[in-house]
Amino acid sequence: MSRRPGNPARRFGESGSIPFAGSLHQKSRSSPFLSVGLVVVGSLLLIGYSYSGSGIPVFINFLFISLDSCGLSCTLEAQTAIPILKKAYGDSMRKVLHVGPDTCSVVSKLFKEEDVEAWGVEPYEIEDADANCRSLMRKGIVRVNDIKFPLPYREKSFNLVIVSDALDYLSPKYLNRTLPDLARVSSDGLVIFAGYPGQQRAKVAELSRFGKPAKLRSASWWIRYFVQTGLEENEAAIKKFEQAASKRSYKPSCQIFHLSAYH
Ligand SMILES: *[C@@H]1O[C@H](CO)[C@@H](O)[C@H](O)[C@H]1NC(C)=O
Repeated sequence: MSRRPGNPARRFGESGSIPFAGSLHQKSRSSPFLSVGLVVVGSLLLIGYSYSGSGIPVFINFLFISLDSCGLSCTLEAQTAIPILKKAYGDSMRKVLHVGPDTCSVVSKLFKEEDVEAWGVEPYEIEDADANCRSLMRKGIVRVNDIKFPLPYREKSFNLVIVSDALDYLSPKYLNRTLPDLARVSSDGLVIFAGYPGQQRAKVAELSRFGKPAKLRSASWWIRYFVQTGLEENEAAIKKFEQAASKRSYKPSCQIFHLSAYH
């Protein structure tokens, strides 16, 4: 065949681009901001694609960019901290809920501790669940649940709720609903792993003006926020955790907050 049938993508591009380019041209004189805006949006899309190794749609991928850049650091940190949490919380680690990305790994790690039962909430769709993770989901141990909405558990269903890499993505408006809901399902306390401000790469920090990467907040911001929300830091747990951590020379690379449950 000497003549190829029209490539649909190309045809679409041609018919689609002519009126679009026309209107851009007409407006570009009166409003140079429009074209600047389009260039910015275009580059954001390119950046989004270059970060996406797995074909996740760009806009969802924005949520993952900063997770990638610190390698899910706080969820890994939560896994590393499990033995120390066990020392600090003892019997209050009987029933644990982990909330955060890669929750299957955290839940599996929790199961390895003696006398610990664990459940997990994954705030985003699980892209490539392995057999272990699929089995945890089938059994209802791990669920996918947008944490902007109430968790599907009754009050005080768990002794301890551990959250990692999840609250950093919520604006105060949603935090106001999510944080009390996390406290609602716990009877003994809440442990929050949050990134330190400045952990993100500069490039990602720039994106925060446009996309939705994490808003990494300082310890004083969080503590002020907890007070506003009526949650108290659990001083006894903080002390025990620090003791257990120093015994094992454990230095977390994330901020860790210990909160008391509602009375
Ligand atoms: C969140 O809740 C606090 C305390 O109730 C309130 O002061 C603040 O205005 C709320 N923020 C938003 C964005 O709703």
